[in-house]
Amino acid sequence: MKRVFVSEALKKNGSVLLKGWVYRIRKSKNLVFIILRDSTGIIQCTVKNDNPYFNVANALTIESSIEVIGKTKTDARAVTGVEVVVNKVHVFQNAEKYPITKDKSTEHLMDYRHLWLRSQKMIAILKIREQVLKSFRDWYFKNDYHETNGPMFVGTKGEEGGELFELDYFGQPGYLTQTSQMHLEALIFALGKVFTISPTFRAEKSRTRKHLTEFLMMEGEMPFYNLSMALKDLENMIVFVCREVAKNCDKELLSIGQDPKYLLSIKAPFEKKTYETCIDELRKKGSKIKYGEDIKTEDEQLLMKGRKSFLFITHWPRELKAFYMKVSDNAKTVECYDLQAPSGFGEIVGGSERETDIKEIVANLEREGDDPKRYEWYLDLRRYGSVPHAGYGLGVARFVAWLTNAEHVRDAVPFPRFINRLKP
Ligand code: 4AD
Repeated sequence: MKRVFVSEALKKNGSVLLKGWVYRIRKSKNLVFIILRDSTGIIQCTVKNDNPYFNVANALTIESSIEVIGKTKTDARAVTGVEVVVNKVHVFQNAEKYPITKDKSTEHLMDYRHLWLRSQKMIAILKIREQVLKSFRDWYFKNDYHETNGPMFVGTKGEEGGELFELDYFGQPGYLTQTSQMHLEALIFALGKVFTISPTFRAEKSRTRKHLTEFLMMEGEMPFYNLSMALKDLENMIVFVCREVAKNCDKELLSIGQDPKYLLSIKAPFEKKTYETCIDELRKKGSKIKYGEDIKTEDEQLLMKGRKSFLFITHWPRELKAFYMKVSDNAKTVECYDLQAPSGFGEIVGGSERETDIKEIVANLEREGDDPKRYEWYLDLRRYGSVPHAGYGLGVARFVAWLTNAEHVRDAVPFPRFINRLKP
Protein backbone atom coordinates (compact mmCIF):
# COMPACT_ATOMS: atom_id res chain seq x y z
CA MET A 1 0.00 0.00 0.00
CA LYS A 2 1.25 3.47 -0.86
CA ARG A 3 1.76 6.02 1.88
CA VAL A 4 -0.58 9.03 1.83
CA PHE A 5 -0.06 12.29 3.67
CA VAL A 6 -2.52 13.54 6.29
CA SER A 7 -3.74 16.32 3.97
CA GLU A 8 -4.74 13.69 1.38
CA ALA A 9 -6.27 11.35 3.97
CA LEU A 10 -8.50 14.21 5.15
CA LYS A 11 -10.02 14.32 1.66
CA LYS A 12 -10.11 10.58 1.00
CA ASN A 13 -12.78 8.04 1.78
CA GLY A 14 -11.35 4.56 2.26
CA SER A 15 -8.16 2.78 3.25
CA VAL A 16 -5.03 4.76 4.03
CA LEU A 17 -1.47 4.14 5.14
CA LEU A 18 -0.06 7.03 7.15
CA LYS A 19 3.40 7.66 8.57
CA GLY A 20 4.12 10.24 11.19
CA TRP A 21 4.38 11.08 14.87
CA VAL A 22 2.09 10.99 17.88
CA TYR A 23 1.04 14.61 18.37
CA ARG A 24 -1.45 13.93 21.18
CA ILE A 25 -2.73 10.73 22.75
CA ARG A 26 -5.70 9.92 24.98
CA LYS A 27 -6.17 6.48 26.45
CA SER A 28 -9.23 4.79 27.96
CA LYS A 29 -10.12 1.20 28.72
CA ASN A 30 -11.90 0.69 25.42
CA LEU A 31 -10.21 3.06 23.04
CA VAL A 32 -6.93 4.83 22.27
CA PHE A 33 -7.20 8.17 20.47
CA ILE A 34 -4.00 9.05 18.62
CA ILE A 35 -3.66 12.43 16.96
CA LEU A 36 -1.15 11.67 14.23
CA ARG A 37 1.02 14.43 12.79
CA ASP A 38 2.99 14.69 9.59
CA SER A 39 4.33 17.67 7.68
CA THR A 40 0.90 18.33 6.13
CA GLY A 41 -1.40 18.31 9.16
CA ILE A 42 -2.99 16.31 11.98
CA ILE A 43 -5.66 13.60 11.98
CA GLN A 44 -7.42 11.56 14.65
CA CYS A 45 -6.79 7.79 14.63
CA THR A 46 -8.67 5.41 16.91
CA VAL A 47 -7.67 1.93 18.06
CA LYS A 48 -10.38 -0.17 19.73
CA ASN A 49 -9.67 -2.70 22.51
CA ASP A 50 -10.71 -5.62 20.28
CA ASN A 51 -7.89 -4.72 17.88
CA PRO A 52 -4.75 -6.94 18.19
CA TYR A 53 -2.69 -3.70 18.13
CA PHE A 54 -4.54 -2.17 21.09
CA ASN A 55 -1.67 -2.83 23.53
CA VAL A 56 0.86 -1.39 21.07
CA ALA A 57 -1.24 1.75 20.73
CA ASN A 58 -1.79 1.91 24.48
CA ALA A 59 1.97 1.96 25.06
CA LEU A 60 2.61 4.88 22.69
CA THR A 61 4.05 8.15 23.97
CA ILE A 62 4.09 11.71 22.62
CA GLU A 63 6.30 12.05 19.49
CA SER A 64 6.64 8.29 18.98
CA SER A 65 7.12 7.57 15.28
CA ILE A 66 4.52 5.26 13.79
CA GLU A 67 2.83 3.89 10.71
CA VAL A 68 -0.89 3.18 10.76
CA ILE A 69 -3.19 1.47 8.29
CA GLY A 70 -6.90 2.10 8.61
CA LYS A 71 -10.08 3.44 7.06
CA THR A 72 -11.14 7.07 7.04
CA LYS A 73 -14.61 8.28 7.95
CA THR A 74 -15.93 11.77 8.50
CA ASP A 75 -16.59 12.63 12.11
CA ALA A 76 -17.41 16.16 13.18
CA ARG A 77 -16.04 15.47 16.67
CA ALA A 78 -12.56 14.64 15.37
CA VAL A 79 -10.01 17.47 15.55
CA THR A 80 -9.81 17.90 11.76
CA GLY A 81 -13.22 16.42 10.91
CA VAL A 82 -12.01 12.96 9.85
CA GLU A 83 -11.20 9.85 11.85
CA VAL A 84 -9.04 6.92 10.82
CA VAL A 85 -10.35 3.66 12.27
CA VAL A 86 -7.07 1.81 12.67
CA ASN A 87 -6.45 -1.82 11.72
CA LYS A 88 -2.68 -1.97 12.08
CA VAL A 89 -0.02 -0.01 13.95
CA HIS A 90 3.71 -0.26 13.37
CA VAL A 91 6.06 1.54 15.76
CA PHE A 92 9.37 2.87 14.42
CA GLN A 93 10.39 4.17 17.84
CA ASN A 94 8.59 4.67 21.10
CA ALA A 95 9.74 8.12 22.20
CA GLU A 96 11.25 8.84 25.60
CA LYS A 97 9.37 11.29 27.86
CA TYR A 98 9.07 14.39 25.66
CA PRO A 99 10.73 17.42 27.24
CA ILE A 100 8.23 19.90 25.79
CA THR A 101 4.90 20.18 27.52
CA LYS A 102 2.40 23.04 27.72
CA ASP A 103 3.43 26.45 29.07
CA LYS A 104 7.19 26.03 28.88
CA SER A 105 9.34 29.18 29.06
CA THR A 106 10.81 30.81 25.94
CA GLU A 107 14.29 29.86 27.18
CA HIS A 108 13.26 26.20 27.49
CA LEU A 109 11.76 26.24 24.00
CA MET A 110 14.98 27.81 22.67
CA ASP A 111 17.08 25.09 24.37
CA TYR A 112 14.88 22.48 22.70
CA ARG A 113 14.54 24.35 19.41
CA HIS A 114 15.48 21.14 17.52
CA LEU A 115 12.28 19.58 18.93
CA TRP A 116 10.12 22.74 19.13
CA LEU A 117 10.40 22.97 15.31
CA ARG A 118 7.81 20.16 15.25
CA SER A 119 5.13 22.35 16.88
CA GLN A 120 2.15 23.33 14.75
CA LYS A 121 3.12 27.00 15.16
CA MET A 122 6.68 26.49 13.95
CA ILE A 123 5.57 24.29 11.07
CA ALA A 124 3.18 27.04 9.91
CA ILE A 125 5.92 29.71 10.15
CA LEU A 126 8.47 27.52 8.33
CA LYS A 127 6.01 26.96 5.49
CA ILE A 128 5.24 30.67 5.23
CA ARG A 129 8.98 31.40 5.21
CA GLU A 130 9.49 28.89 2.41
CA GLN A 131 6.70 30.54 0.41
CA VAL A 132 8.29 33.96 1.01
CA LEU A 133 11.63 32.78 -0.35
CA LYS A 134 10.00 31.06 -3.32
CA SER A 135 7.90 34.14 -4.15
CA PHE A 136 10.89 36.47 -3.99
CA ARG A 137 12.71 34.18 -6.40
CA ASP A 138 9.65 33.97 -8.68
CA TRP A 139 9.44 37.76 -8.81
CA TYR A 140 13.14 38.11 -9.61
CA PHE A 141 13.06 35.54 -12.41
CA LYS A 142 9.91 37.12 -13.89
CA ASN A 143 11.74 40.44 -13.91
CA ASP A 144 14.94 39.29 -15.61
CA TYR A 145 17.26 39.08 -12.60
CA HIS A 146 20.05 36.52 -12.29
CA GLU A 147 20.65 34.62 -9.04
CA THR A 148 24.23 34.58 -7.82
CA ASN A 149 26.20 35.02 -4.60
CA GLY A 150 29.24 36.57 -2.97
CA PRO A 151 31.73 34.90 -0.60
CA MET A 152 31.09 34.43 3.12
CA PHE A 153 34.78 35.01 4.03
CA VAL A 154 35.80 38.56 3.23
CA GLY A 155 38.79 40.81 3.81
CA THR A 156 37.04 44.12 4.61
CA LYS A 157 33.90 45.54 6.16
CA GLY A 158 30.76 46.05 4.09
CA GLU A 159 28.83 48.13 6.62
CA GLU A 160 29.60 49.27 10.20
CA GLY A 161 33.12 48.14 11.16
CA GLY A 162 32.04 47.59 14.78
CA GLU A 163 29.70 44.76 13.85
CA LEU A 164 32.29 42.53 12.17
CA PHE A 165 32.98 38.95 13.22
CA GLU A 166 36.74 38.72 12.88
CA LEU A 167 38.58 35.45 12.28
CA ASP A 168 42.05 34.16 11.62
CA TYR A 169 42.11 33.32 7.91
CA PHE A 170 45.30 31.26 7.64
CA GLY A 171 47.34 33.90 9.37
CA GLN A 172 45.69 37.01 7.95
CA PRO A 173 42.69 38.82 9.39
CA GLY A 174 39.42 37.85 7.77
CA TYR A 175 35.75 38.47 8.51
CA LEU A 176 32.37 36.85 8.06
CA THR A 177 30.51 38.92 5.53
CA GLN A 178 28.01 41.55 6.68
CA THR A 179 26.48 41.92 3.23
CA SER A 180 27.01 40.57 -0.29
CA GLN A 181 26.51 44.03 -1.74
CA MET A 182 30.04 44.84 -2.87
CA HIS A 183 30.44 41.51 -4.65
CA LEU A 184 27.01 41.92 -6.27
CA GLU A 185 28.21 45.31 -7.51
CA ALA A 186 31.01 43.46 -9.32
CA LEU A 187 28.57 40.88 -10.71
CA ILE A 188 26.23 43.44 -12.38
CA PHE A 189 28.95 44.09 -14.96
CA ALA A 190 28.74 40.43 -15.98
CA LEU A 191 25.08 39.54 -15.48
CA GLY A 192 23.04 42.76 -15.36
CA LYS A 193 20.37 42.78 -12.64
CA VAL A 194 21.35 40.30 -9.92
CA PHE A 195 20.07 39.04 -6.59
CA THR A 196 21.18 36.74 -3.84
CA ILE A 197 19.59 35.20 -0.78
CA SER A 198 22.62 34.55 1.39
CA PRO A 199 23.64 34.29 5.03
CA THR A 200 25.10 37.45 6.55
CA PHE A 201 26.72 37.98 9.92
CA ARG A 202 26.66 40.86 12.39
CA ALA A 203 28.41 40.87 15.74
CA GLU A 204 25.28 42.43 17.27
CA LYS A 205 25.35 42.66 21.03
CA SER A 206 21.84 44.16 21.09
CA ARG A 207 19.22 42.16 22.92
CA THR A 208 16.21 43.40 21.01
CA ARG A 209 13.36 41.61 19.27
CA LYS A 210 14.83 42.40 15.85
CA HIS A 211 18.54 41.58 16.06
CA LEU A 212 20.21 38.31 15.11
CA THR A 213 23.91 37.63 14.61
CA GLU A 214 23.34 35.46 11.54
CA PHE A 215 20.47 35.95 9.12
CA LEU A 216 19.53 35.58 5.49
CA MET A 217 19.71 38.79 3.54
CA MET A 218 18.03 39.08 0.20
CA GLU A 219 19.97 41.57 -1.84
CA GLY A 220 19.36 43.07 -5.26
CA GLU A 221 21.79 45.13 -7.32
CA MET A 222 20.77 46.80 -10.56
CA PRO A 223 22.91 48.60 -13.19
CA PHE A 224 21.54 51.79 -14.77
CA TYR A 225 19.14 52.28 -11.82
CA ASN A 226 18.56 55.35 -9.68
CA LEU A 227 16.83 55.64 -6.32
CA SER A 228 13.26 55.92 -7.62
CA MET A 229 13.65 52.92 -9.95
CA ALA A 230 14.88 50.82 -7.03
CA LEU A 231 11.94 51.90 -4.85
CA LYS A 232 9.48 50.91 -7.57
CA ASP A 233 11.00 47.42 -7.87
CA LEU A 234 10.96 46.94 -4.13
CA GLU A 235 7.34 47.93 -3.63
CA ASN A 236 6.15 45.81 -6.56
CA MET A 237 8.12 42.85 -5.28
CA ILE A 238 6.83 43.13 -1.70
CA VAL A 239 3.21 43.49 -2.88
CA PHE A 240 3.69 40.42 -5.10
CA VAL A 241 5.13 38.38 -2.22
CA CYS A 242 2.34 39.42 0.19
CA ARG A 243 -0.23 38.34 -2.40
CA GLU A 244 1.44 34.99 -3.04
CA VAL A 245 1.72 34.25 0.66
CA ALA A 246 -1.93 35.24 1.27
CA LYS A 247 -3.00 32.99 -1.62
CA ASN A 248 -0.86 29.93 -0.89
CA CYS A 249 -0.53 30.00 2.91
CA ASP A 250 -3.98 31.18 4.03
CA LYS A 251 -4.44 28.17 6.34
CA GLU A 252 -1.02 28.66 7.96
CA LEU A 253 -1.55 32.42 8.33
CA LEU A 254 -4.93 31.98 10.03
CA SER A 255 -3.49 29.32 12.36
CA ILE A 256 -0.99 31.83 13.75
CA GLY A 257 -3.41 34.76 13.93
CA GLN A 258 -2.49 36.66 10.76
CA ASP A 259 -5.30 37.68 8.44
CA PRO A 260 -4.51 36.96 4.76
CA LYS A 261 -6.83 39.90 3.91
CA TYR A 262 -4.42 42.23 5.65
CA LEU A 263 -1.59 41.05 3.40
CA LEU A 264 -3.83 41.57 0.37
CA SER A 265 -4.44 45.16 1.53
CA ILE A 266 -0.73 46.01 1.08
CA LYS A 267 -0.65 47.99 -2.16
CA ALA A 268 1.95 49.92 -4.16
CA PRO A 269 3.04 52.68 -4.16
CA PHE A 270 4.28 52.84 -0.57
CA GLU A 271 4.42 56.12 1.31
CA LYS A 272 7.74 57.96 0.91
CA LYS A 273 9.15 60.64 3.21
CA THR A 274 12.58 62.16 3.52
CA TYR A 275 14.54 61.70 6.74
CA GLU A 276 14.10 65.43 7.42
CA THR A 277 10.30 65.34 7.21
CA CYS A 278 10.29 62.23 9.42
CA ILE A 279 12.28 64.13 12.07
CA ASP A 280 9.69 66.96 11.88
CA GLU A 281 6.85 64.46 12.23
CA LEU A 282 8.53 62.75 15.18
CA ARG A 283 9.11 66.04 17.00
CA LYS A 284 5.46 66.99 16.45
CA LYS A 285 4.53 63.62 17.98
CA GLY A 286 6.58 64.45 21.09
CA SER A 287 10.00 62.91 20.38
CA LYS A 288 13.15 64.79 21.39
CA ILE A 289 15.08 63.56 18.34
CA LYS A 290 17.18 66.18 16.50
CA TYR A 291 18.18 66.40 12.84
CA GLY A 292 21.40 64.42 12.39
CA GLU A 293 20.56 61.71 14.93
CA ASP A 294 19.79 58.10 14.02
CA ILE A 295 16.15 57.05 14.26
CA LYS A 296 16.24 54.55 17.12
CA THR A 297 13.77 51.77 17.86
CA GLU A 298 11.44 53.89 20.05
CA ASP A 299 11.22 56.60 17.42
CA GLU A 300 10.70 54.02 14.67
CA GLN A 301 7.74 52.75 16.65
CA LEU A 302 6.38 56.24 17.20
CA LEU A 303 6.70 56.97 13.49
CA MET A 304 4.95 53.77 12.43
CA LYS A 305 2.16 54.01 15.04
CA GLY A 306 -1.12 54.10 13.15
CA ARG A 307 0.51 53.28 9.81
CA LYS A 308 -0.91 50.09 8.33
CA SER A 309 1.55 49.78 5.45
CA PHE A 310 5.22 50.38 4.68
CA LEU A 311 7.09 53.67 4.75
CA PHE A 312 10.25 54.52 2.81
CA ILE A 313 12.53 56.97 4.63
CA THR A 314 14.82 58.51 2.03
CA HIS A 315 17.74 60.96 1.91
CA TRP A 316 19.46 60.55 5.28
CA PRO A 317 22.33 62.84 6.35
CA ARG A 318 25.50 61.41 4.84
CA GLU A 319 27.25 61.14 8.23
CA LEU A 320 24.70 58.54 9.33
CA LYS A 321 25.13 56.26 6.35
CA ALA A 322 27.69 53.96 4.74
CA PHE A 323 30.76 54.94 2.71
CA TYR A 324 29.43 53.61 -0.61
CA MET A 325 26.22 55.69 -0.84
CA LYS A 326 25.82 58.34 -3.51
CA VAL A 327 25.91 61.91 -2.23
CA SER A 328 22.83 63.94 -3.20
CA ASP A 329 23.14 67.19 -5.18
CA ASN A 330 22.66 69.17 -1.93
CA ALA A 331 25.96 67.56 -0.67
CA LYS A 332 24.26 67.04 2.75
CA THR A 333 22.31 63.85 2.25
CA VAL A 334 22.78 60.55 0.44
CA GLU A 335 20.53 58.88 -2.14
CA CYS A 336 19.41 56.16 0.24
CA TYR A 337 16.25 54.55 1.50
CA ASP A 338 15.23 52.49 4.50
CA LEU A 339 11.92 50.68 4.43
CA GLN A 340 10.04 50.68 7.71
CA ALA A 341 7.55 47.90 8.35
CA PRO A 342 4.25 48.50 10.10
CA SER A 343 3.87 47.02 13.61
CA GLY A 344 7.26 47.84 15.02
CA PHE A 345 9.71 45.41 13.37
CA GLY A 346 11.74 48.41 12.39
CA GLU A 347 13.77 48.65 9.27
CA ILE A 348 13.21 45.76 6.90
CA VAL A 349 15.19 47.04 3.93
CA GLY A 350 18.25 49.24 3.64
CA GLY A 351 19.46 50.40 0.26
CA SER A 352 20.86 53.19 -1.84
CA GLU A 353 22.07 54.42 -5.13
CA ARG A 354 25.83 53.75 -5.13
CA GLU A 355 28.53 56.40 -5.25
CA THR A 356 30.44 56.25 -8.54
CA ASP A 357 33.03 58.94 -7.70
CA ILE A 358 36.21 57.25 -6.42
CA LYS A 359 37.29 60.44 -4.62
CA GLU A 360 34.10 60.47 -2.51
CA ILE A 361 34.43 56.78 -1.60
CA VAL A 362 38.11 57.17 -0.66
CA ALA A 363 37.36 60.27 1.45
CA ASN A 364 34.52 58.45 3.24
CA LEU A 365 36.73 55.45 4.03
CA GLU A 366 39.51 57.70 5.31
CA ARG A 367 37.03 59.61 7.48
CA GLU A 368 35.98 56.28 9.01
CA GLY A 369 39.65 55.44 9.73
CA ASP A 370 39.81 52.69 7.11
CA ASP A 371 42.59 52.21 4.58
CA PRO A 372 41.25 52.69 1.01
CA LYS A 373 44.08 50.48 -0.30
CA ARG A 374 42.24 47.47 1.09
CA TYR A 375 39.32 48.34 -1.19
CA GLU A 376 41.28 48.51 -4.46
CA TRP A 377 39.24 45.74 -6.10
CA TYR A 378 36.02 47.59 -5.23
CA LEU A 379 37.41 50.88 -6.58
CA ASP A 380 38.26 49.08 -9.84
CA LEU A 381 34.50 48.82 -10.42
CA ARG A 382 34.53 52.64 -10.69
CA ARG A 383 37.56 52.59 -13.02
CA TYR A 384 36.46 50.13 -15.67
CA GLY A 385 33.11 50.95 -17.26
CA SER A 386 31.44 52.40 -14.16
CA VAL A 387 27.67 52.94 -14.43
CA PRO A 388 25.00 54.48 -12.20
CA HIS A 389 23.58 51.66 -10.10
CA ALA A 390 21.50 50.98 -7.03
CA GLY A 391 20.66 48.10 -4.72
CA TYR A 392 19.27 47.04 -1.37
CA GLY A 393 19.23 44.35 1.26
CA LEU A 394 16.07 42.94 2.83
CA GLY A 395 16.33 41.12 6.15
CA VAL A 396 14.41 37.90 5.55
CA ALA A 397 13.93 37.19 9.27
CA ARG A 398 12.44 40.63 9.93
CA PHE A 399 10.20 40.38 6.89
CA VAL A 400 8.89 36.94 7.91
CA ALA A 401 8.52 38.13 11.52
CA TRP A 402 6.34 40.99 10.30
CA LEU A 403 4.32 38.68 8.04
CA THR A 404 3.70 36.16 10.79
CA ASN A 405 3.01 38.63 13.60
CA ALA A 406 5.95 37.11 15.48
CA GLU A 407 6.99 38.39 18.88
CA HIS A 408 10.67 38.27 17.99
CA VAL A 409 12.76 37.64 14.84
CA ARG A 410 14.01 34.42 16.43
CA ASP A 411 10.52 32.96 15.78
CA ALA A 412 10.95 33.49 12.04
CA VAL A 413 14.17 31.44 11.71
CA PRO A 414 14.64 27.68 12.19
CA PHE A 415 17.85 27.93 14.26
CA PRO A 416 18.25 31.53 15.42
CA ARG A 417 21.63 32.88 16.40
CA PHE A 418 21.89 35.83 18.73
CA ILE A 419 24.04 36.84 21.65
CA ASN A 420 24.26 33.89 24.12
CA ARG A 421 22.66 31.47 21.67
CA LEU A 422 24.89 29.07 19.75
CA LYS A 423 22.88 25.88 20.28
CA PRO A 424 21.12 23.81 19.01
O1 4AD B 1 20.59 48.14 6.24
P1 4AD B 1 21.61 47.05 6.11
O2 4AD B 1 22.76 47.08 7.04
O3 4AD B 1 22.07 47.10 4.59
C1 4AD B 1 23.13 46.46 4.04
O4 4AD B 1 23.79 45.58 4.56
C2 4AD B 1 23.33 46.81 2.59
N1 4AD B 1 24.72 46.59 2.26
C3 4AD B 1 22.41 45.98 1.75
C4 4AD B 1 22.52 46.31 0.29
O5 4AD B 1 22.33 47.45 -0.06
N2 4AD B 1 22.78 45.32 -0.53
O6 4AD B 1 20.89 45.65 6.24
C5 4AD B 1 19.83 45.29 5.39
C6 4AD B 1 18.70 44.66 6.18
C7 4AD B 1 18.12 45.56 7.25
O7 4AD B 1 17.20 46.46 6.72
C8 4AD B 1 17.45 44.55 8.17
O8 4AD B 1 16.20 44.14 7.66
C9 4AD B 1 18.38 43.39 8.08
O9 4AD B 1 19.16 43.53 6.91
N3 4AD B 1 19.27 43.36 9.26
C10 4AD B 1 19.10 42.51 10.30
N4 4AD B 1 18.20 41.55 10.54
C11 4AD B 1 18.32 40.84 11.67
N5 4AD B 1 19.29 41.05 12.57
C12 4AD B 1 20.24 42.01 12.38
N6 4AD B 1 21.21 42.18 13.26
C13 4AD B 1 20.16 42.80 11.20
N7 4AD B 1 20.92 43.80 10.68
C14 4AD B 1 20.34 44.12 9.50
